Amino acid sequence: MTERGAVLVTGAAGFIGSHVVEALLAQGRPVIGVDNFDPFYSRQIKEQNAAHCRAAGCKFVEGDLCDAGFTASLFERTKPAGVIHLAARAGVRPSIADPIGYVRSNVLATMVVLEAARGAGCERVVLASSSSVYGNNTKVPFSEDDPVENPISPYAASKRSCELIAHAHHHLTGMPTACLRFFTVIGPRQRPDLAVSLFLSRVSRGEPIRMFGDGSTSRDYTYIEDIVAGVLASYERIDVHGYRVWNLGGSDPVSLAEMIRTVGEVVGNEPIVTREPMQPGDVVRTYADLSRARSELDYEPATPFREGVAQQWAWMRARQH
Ligand SMILES: NC(=O)c1ccc[n+]([C@@H]2O[C@H](COP(=O)([O-])OP(=O)(O)OC[C@H]3O[C@@H](n4cnc5c(N)ncnc54)[C@H](O)[C@@H]3O)[C@@H](O)[C@H]2O)c1
Repeated sequence: MTERGAVLVTGAAGFIGSHVVEALLAQGRPVIGVDNFDPFYSRQIKEQNAAHCRAAGCKFVEGDLCDAGFTASLFERTKPAGVIHLAARAGVRPSIADPIGYVRSNVLATMVVLEAARGAGCERVVLASSSSVYGNNTKVPFSEDDPVENPISPYAASKRSCELIAHAHHHLTGMPTACLRFFTVIGPRQRPDLAVSLFLSRVSRGEPIRMFGDGSTSRDYTYIEDIVAGVLASYERIDVHGYRVWNLGGSDPVSLAEMIRTVGEVVGNEPIVTREPMQPGDVVRTYADLSRARSELDYEPATPFREGVAQQWAWMRARQH
């Protein structure tokens, strides 16, 4: 690790970004946060996340990373040592409704950020990818060496594209580059569109929830603090690897039916479930093989699913008052 220069965090007003900003500041690193407050979900929620970052000492800039002029001048002005690029349009189902918007915010913005990082002489870059790149692979757990040529949603395809662009960029520039495949992240500040957040709200109010499929699909949920630990470790260590893809998951998949049961137990209400068919673009399962992250990042998920849901619910309740 070289000198502890400033880190530019993109998507800093988002769920994962705001936690990463706070963790970097807690390590004593200067942080510049950037976000365009994309209307994908409420600006008010993002303003609250950004307020936490500012209160912790983050310099915050509002702007669209797809704007190459804005982004290049941001990097030139702030001269960050490295960048953690988390900004994106997230979510599988909305990407089917707006594939062009997803390619713009994910693929174009990533290329712009990489070019700006090169122009400003950044020494390293970490990018957010996603478990969705594994598509409907049937071999579990998913390993970084498995084929990922069959994404089944525009979102997944956009994230795989980012990994490929990042590889080419690394090959040409030598800039150490990490791509992190996050597996469904839960915890305080979780995006309101994600199922755990949605279900906690609705079940607590006695409202019905929609279950897509028969409840047997499964997700490898990961607690936000574990993700943040993995992001920080990858930022520290990417220089010895050059280009690397790492899974960051919980490695303990939970079925949809079990997730709904847990939500009901945590809020203390019986879930009212409406059954609907599986949605296009949704994968059947996710399950992270963590061998590489364990050995190279000392990554070890510490918070079990149920505790993560309870922490998220405690945060949601505190916000309501
Ligand atoms: N949350 C998960 O479970 C999960 C799983 C896999 C991958 N990821 C990836 O992790 C990253 C962070 O996800 P999140 O859940 O925190 O999402 P989020 O939506 O809460 O945060 C992303 C932020 O990026 C910002 N943004 C979008 N486009 C931008 C642009 N063009 N310029 C500047 N800012 C822009 C948004 O306003 C938002 O605040 C994303 O890349 C996402 O694809 C998340």
